[in-house]
Amino acid sequence: PRVLVLFGGRSGEHPISCVTAAGVLRAIDREKYDVLPVGIARDGRWVLVADDPDQWKLDDGRLPEVEAVGGEVVLPFADGDAVLRVLDPHQVPRELGEIDVVFPVLHGPFGEDGTLQGMLELADLRYVGPGVLASAIGMDKHFMKLVLAGHDLAVGPYTVVRPGQFERDPAEVTARVAALGLPVFVKPARAGSSLGISKVDDLADLPAAIAAAHEHDPKLVIEAGIVGREIECAVLGGRAGERARASLPGEIVVTSREHAFYDFEAKYLDEAGVELSCPAELPEDVIREVQDVAVRTFEAVEAEGLSRVDVFVTPDHRVIVNEINTMPGFTPFSMYPRMWERSGIAYPALIDELVGLALA
Ligand code: DAL
Ligand code: MG
Repeated sequence: PRVLVLFGGRSGEHPISCVTAAGVLRAIDREKYDVLPVGIARDGRWVLVADDPDQWKLDDGRLPEVEAVGGEVVLPFADGDAVLRVLDPHQVPRELGEIDVVFPVLHGPFGEDGTLQGMLELADLRYVGPGVLASAIGMDKHFMKLVLAGHDLAVGPYTVVRPGQFERDPAEVTARVAALGLPVFVKPARAGSSLGISKVDDLADLPAAIAAAHEHDPKLVIEAGIVGREIECAVLGGRAGERARASLPGEIVVTSREHAFYDFEAKYLDEAGVELSCPAELPEDVIREVQDVAVRTFEAVEAEGLSRVDVFVTPDHRVIVNEINTMPGFTPFSMYPRMWERSGIAYPALIDELVGLALA
């Protein structure tokens, strides 16, 4: 089969997507799959890029970028027969031929939020990962919480700040935040990789935190800090009436005092400052509870293919859902593949399984 690996994209998580793509391009079975790497530049242009994992890896703290050097990929929707054509810098259309499946290794808005998934549905193309609705719910932390709570899954206390609300009535928003109790986490409603997130320990810092989050989204979610361990669980499968599987959970331990929480820097640029341990050291029954909550979260948003569910385990062993990520980072050193590795599925086999699920 012909696999179009699509990465980069318009969101702030562009470089993380490139790093994941490097891992996928390196590990995908070339005997089995014909691979077509297509990058989306920050400005939204699609370009056929070098099939070279080294170009997209994280190199000494340097974050990779897709550059649109005048190229453009056009995706016509005629006859459901999605033929991709590349317009090269000289505007000579080049047929790319038929695609069997798209692997949208894209994080954040315009990639992980259902918009791209909708375009692929229109084009009658199969793709890896959750569909339109699950992607949209997973991207919007406000609606995610409503859906999870509606399925009797525990979510932490939070309040929503709608566009313009803080500017119109800062005292009202501040009172709602004070009622949550400090610290709080101020988050863009629709972003990922902790971009735009601040931990606020003092209400005097709230306006700056709101401004930082507003750089990513006019809508915000402010969450009460939860006292608990940060545990993640990978979910795989969930097509054709079969129940999705949960991996062994992993734990995030931020060891460096430089990071107030598991922020962007800690996630990607400071390997020494954070420990990802898998399996997480938890009692057997708590592991089973985390796995059950992860699969129920996956099912609550009607996800398919893959997702990573992030939870807090409180000192009295309650499991509170922080969020679901419908296209989690999975560079070979990311939590998602590491948890499957420890659960018996190696990275190349995981990629094969994800593409296989999309083709099934
Ligand atoms: N949003 C990042 C890529 C993650 O959830 O892993
Ligand atoms: Mg996320």
